[in-house]
Amino acid sequence: MCSIIGYRGSRPAGKIIVDSLKKMEYRGYDSVGVSTLHSGRIETRKGVGKVSEVDSSLHMNSMAGTVGIGHTRWATHGGVNTANAHPHCSNSKKISIVHNGIIENYQSIKQQLRAEGYVFKSQTDSEVIANLLQKNLELTGSIRESMLRTLARLEGSFAFIAIFEGGTIAAARYREPLIIGLGQSAYYLSSDVLGFSDHTDDAIFLGDKELVIISSSGMEVLNFDGESIQPNVTKIAHELLTAEKGDFSHFTLKEIFEQKSTILRTADAHWYDSDRLLDRLNNCKNLYLTGSGTSYHAALIGSFLLSKYAKKRAEPMIASEMQFLPTFIDDDSVLLAISQSGESADILSAVNLAKEEGAGIVSIVNSMTSSLFRESSYSIGLHCGPEVGVAATKSFTSQLVVMYRLAQELSGGKIEPDFTEVSLAVSKVLSSSSKIEEVAKGLESASDIYVLGRGIHFPIALEGSLKIKEISYIHAEGLPGGELKHGPLALMHDGISVVLVNPDDCTHADTLTGAHEIKARGGKIIGISNAYNELYDSWIEIPTVDEAMFPIVESVPLQLLAYYTSLEKKADPDYPRNLAKCVTVR
Ligand code: F6R
Repeated sequence: MCSIIGYRGSRPAGKIIVDSLKKMEYRGYDSVGVSTLHSGRIETRKGVGKVSEVDSSLHMNSMAGTVGIGHTRWATHGGVNTANAHPHCSNSKKISIVHNGIIENYQSIKQQLRAEGYVFKSQTDSEVIANLLQKNLELTGSIRESMLRTLARLEGSFAFIAIFEGGTIAAARYREPLIIGLGQSAYYLSSDVLGFSDHTDDAIFLGDKELVIISSSGMEVLNFDGESIQPNVTKIAHELLTAEKGDFSHFTLKEIFEQKSTILRTADAHWYDSDRLLDRLNNCKNLYLTGSGTSYHAALIGSFLLSKYAKKRAEPMIASEMQFLPTFIDDDSVLLAISQSGESADILSAVNLAKEEGAGIVSIVNSMTSSLFRESSYSIGLHCGPEVGVAATKSFTSQLVVMYRLAQELSGGKIEPDFTEVSLAVSKVLSSSSKIEEVAKGLESASDIYVLGRGIHFPIALEGSLKIKEISYIHAEGLPGGELKHGPLALMHDGISVVLVNPDDCTHADTLTGAHEIKARGGKIIGISNAYNELYDSWIEIPTVDEAMFPIVESVPLQLLAYYTSLEKKADPDYPRNLAKCVTVR
């Protein structure tokens, strides 16, 4: 959602903070702000827009001072305007804070503080933190006490960083990520390791209900009860530290192109404690798969593969729905929790629900330092490197690779995926990207796009339609072809665009039946297939691979189609409106 960064060191904070915010902008990007401390005063500059836009008018990167905080926002409470942008200062102007998460009881705190004379300038839930800190500091005279008393009042989920007029920086986390980077006589506090990856690879992952206070006398880590904690220093894996666009115009395009190698990386990755992990999956009574958005689509594919090959009933569930669903989750159940970020609030609460019932948690996650990783009994890493584009691309195909590997292991080899063949096929699709760019030109004025697929291709149709709506802002819907005649056919008309996910396998002929029905009503068909058919107005050719493996290969042209359509619509595929990479609110 939002990203927060803090710095205390000996170099100018403004530039360090602005550079970090640019790297973490994928987490939220409707407004931005920085506070630094210099000559004993806190100065704040903030505005609406992306980091580079606001920086070019407010010059945040040249702000003086060696202590500072910064924030990029994804609005939850209060509109997108400068007053609601972070940082927020206390009334005394002696404390400034940045916050990620939601303070659920902010209204009652605000009411109380107002009655005591405090004035609020924003509609955010976050501003109460600054004024509570001020009140508690004035009461106790101690930053440590002020933090502990403030934390005792806050409900919800939060990571926040505060700077104090005297130069101390303090931060706390509860259900939102916060990582400390340890540099040479410098401390970084960040939502993501990318926030300090240019400076250090030594990190401390603050645990839930922990806080840190950094002052001229050093660093102290405590829990919310005020007890001191000896933190573990971790070396961050190099693959997590690099996220550059290189020669690509967008991260999204770069990440789509990376798939020829990320598929192989995921395929070759070692699974820690794999014997016990597979044993647990093999022997559990109930197996559930969960995820949100794209990760849920991977759960659908996983459920299909595990049922078909391993003869294991694996029920897929949308993470945010799990609390409302009747399930049989108990201590003889396993929840396979799928998440790129490992920080999605919906997935973390699904995991909590399952844990309360005693179920085992096996996560499939890209970030092996995430909250989900730490909540799991076993974890399978995606190893596809940081994904910065908001639309999930390479993480999806890596999730599918894990699903295929699981189906292979749990079926005793009834499916033997050839990932080298898949990667070569993906390379071929990528080398025909200019053809897909041409097809996208025809979609620029479409108001609706339907994506049809049957059997295992239906989840891919759902995923393709999600990509289209997310980054090209065209209404898109994934449908199983056989359902057309049960309703959606009423929406087909002259010129409507329909994409068929239609490789030459057991679904091919039935999918073509749907295409005939659309064509008869004037629809325009884009066929994604290894086999040409005259029904296709445009044919996006994919190579022939083992028929079980088509889902990975056919995902790539759908991603490219969404990407190029986004460019046709003059949208920014890396930063789609209203979205954020990591959805840490429920
Ligand atoms: C779609 C997309 C989202 C995420 C969803 C889950 O392109 O990126 O739908 O898939 O928010 O995120 P993770 O996998 O990080 O839990």
